Amino acid sequence: MPNFAKIHNAEDLRRAAAAYLPAPILDFIDGGAEDETSVRNNRAVFERVRFRPRTLVDVETRSIAATLLGKPAAAPIGIAPMGGLSNFAPAAELAMARACEAAGIPYCLSTAAGISIEDLRRAVPGARLWYQLYVFQDDAVNDGIVRRAQDAGYDAMIVTTDTHMGPKRERDRRNGFALTLERSPRNVARVLARPRWVWDVLIRAGLPGMPNLAAHAPEATGNLAATKYFIANRRRAFDVAQLRALRRVWKGKLLVKGVLRADEAVQVLEAGADGIVMSNHGGRNLDGAAAPLQMLPEVADAVGGRMHVLIDSGFRRGTDIVKALALGAEGVLLGRPAAYAVAAGGEAGVAHLIGLTKDEIDRTLGYLGCTTVDQLGRDHVLLDHASPGRNEPGL
Ligand code: FNR
Repeated sequence: MPNFAKIHNAEDLRRAAAAYLPAPILDFIDGGAEDETSVRNNRAVFERVRFRPRTLVDVETRSIAATLLGKPAAAPIGIAPMGGLSNFAPAAELAMARACEAAGIPYCLSTAAGISIEDLRRAVPGARLWYQLYVFQDDAVNDGIVRRAQDAGYDAMIVTTDTHMGPKRERDRRNGFALTLERSPRNVARVLARPRWVWDVLIRAGLPGMPNLAAHAPEATGNLAATKYFIANRRRAFDVAQLRALRRVWKGKLLVKGVLRADEAVQVLEAGADGIVMSNHGGRNLDGAAAPLQMLPEVADAVGGRMHVLIDSGFRRGTDIVKALALGAEGVLLGRPAAYAVAAGGEAGVAHLIGLTKDEIDRTLGYLGCTTVDQLGRDHVLLDHASPGRNEPGL
């Protein structure tokens, strides 16, 4: 367990994770598609938004509580769906969900999770759980998963639509990593260099594959088979009509993850869905995709107030989160920082990350002269290329 007193931010958590994880697994988390320009741009855009603080305000009493998808949350954040977590720490999904429950924020389980929908629900009966759906060719698989998430009381379904093409992540190709690791002499050496991970993850916990997928596609049983199924069975035909069909089946909140354009956000709204997660998948899929933060002002202008707008990709700090809230997002999902945190320290690591993030959000609010998150607005930020009087979208 790392000394949390010395871990002050996501980058510190990454360093702690790097000491625990074999290099190809760390590369899988860190990496993006092709030249990784999207990954870098996702961070760079935050520097093009500056705050316009107000200081003569009584901020003695503050609250960072928020409303996410119509329900109260202790902070305007949740944890993004991530597959492959079983490679990072034993029972990683459970650790994340427990930390989220204790912190009063939602946790989103991925289709590629290593724990079943029902087992997670039973383990954290009081947690607020969302489910992320990858749509496969076989409707029996999709329908079965959706029904089970509904029966288990997951309160939102987030259908990811930006992963229909197989991404070209060159670090993983070089490392021979596709949720399972090729047994090359180099990889064996790099794995043996992390004996604690070998003991915890490979020997004691084992790699569970994707049980939710395997329950409906027996040919996807086991780690390697699940990965192969995943790659071979993506649906590339998911469109607005199919979204409408999903809307008829799923009773809870329905969101589409991967939307960046205002016109597509409007289509999602018109299809009867409740919201979007603006995302470029953390730069892991389309290299050169705009950062969601860049697209947020125009999307918020087009649909703001009529649908839930969550956002992710590149968020590492409370200040990043507050910038997105000021530009019109309802909440932010944390991706890689949570992956580093769970590898660095399991549930305690994730709890530490959430604590740091909450503290930074609170401090930023106070500096801006706000006492609640719903006081944030475009007036609190200065966009690059805009003078204070003409604060137009277009970072
Ligand atoms: C992801 N992401 C993801 N998204 C999704 O819809 N389903 C999934 O199974 C996964 N799996 C996954 C694994 C790993 C290791 C990472 C890092 C990411 C994308 C994720 O939900 C989110 O969009 C990004 O992680 C956000 O970017 P940052 O915060 O990581 O920069």
